[in-house]
Amino acid sequence: MEYNRILLEKRGGIAVISLNDPDKLNAFSVETLRELLCVVRELETDAAVRVVIVTGVGKAFVAGADIGHMRGLNALEAIEYATDTTDVYDVIGRSKKVYIAAVNGFALGGGAEFALACDIRVASAKAKFGLPEVSLGILPGGGGTQRLPRLVGSAKAMELILTGKIIAADEALRIGLVNQVTEPEALMDTAFDMAAAIVKNAPIAVALAKECIVQSGQLPLEEGIGFEKKLFGLCFSTEDQKEGMAAFEEKRSPRFQNK
Ligand code: COA
Repeated sequence: MEYNRILLEKRGGIAVISLNDPDKLNAFSVETLRELLCVVRELETDAAVRVVIVTGVGKAFVAGADIGHMRGLNALEAIEYATDTTDVYDVIGRSKKVYIAAVNGFALGGGAEFALACDIRVASAKAKFGLPEVSLGILPGGGGTQRLPRLVGSAKAMELILTGKIIAADEALRIGLVNQVTEPEALMDTAFDMAAAIVKNAPIAVALAKECIVQSGQLPLEEGIGFEKKLFGLCFSTEDQKEGMAAFEEKRSPRFQNK
């Protein structure tokens, strides 16, 4: 499929999705969201891609949902629009691939939620984060009220969502909203380094470990530990477990085959 609002590149097991509507600060138009859903679904069918980096062209990552579009929506249309975003995040959450948000600038409202839906976040020192929906008479509708407290705790989530304030990258790092902050020009290299460190590991083990961590947000501790134990056991049915442990004992690098 041809994309008008996003760019897709692939390099050695790593795909980069760049939101490309810089004049509108990559705000989530219906067209952008439709393309985003298509591209994440398309990537699901490409087993060679192990890590997906998402970023924005220009000074924004994503400046949020498209306010011009939202202005005229009725309640049911608003739910449908929110579902256009959560459909994308559902694919990301269920994906065997690891999603890294490389947050280059404004990540506001839906943009912050998009970053939250990714597995790992690295940010440029110029990035700004916020969920200013209440200043527009709405609330975050793309998972923000659910994912933010799970990541930073309910007190910080309350503060950010109820004040709608915008915070800088260093504050986002301090509260655990992002994993790492880099100089702006080093952002993509940092994301690629992180992606490369993931790609060198056993693909099935990485995918199962991600699944366990995703489940930790949903399961009571005892059930989560039971779930983890089963997936731990499943690793022992893979060739890559045998290869990883043999390589360790033979003091060489493993050659994982995704089997
Ligand atoms: N929806 C629709 N259009 C948006 C947008 C959004 N969320 N965010 C930015 N834009 C548009 C602006 O309307 C402007 O379009 P125009 O040139 O046709 O007037 C263009 O993007 C550039 O934005 P501008 O406001 O001129 O840039 P800035 O650098 O002065 O300010 C922001 C940047 C991010 C602070 C400001 O754009 C902003 O507050 N955006 C809305 C953020 C928001 O509330 N997001 C949550 C939505 S739920």
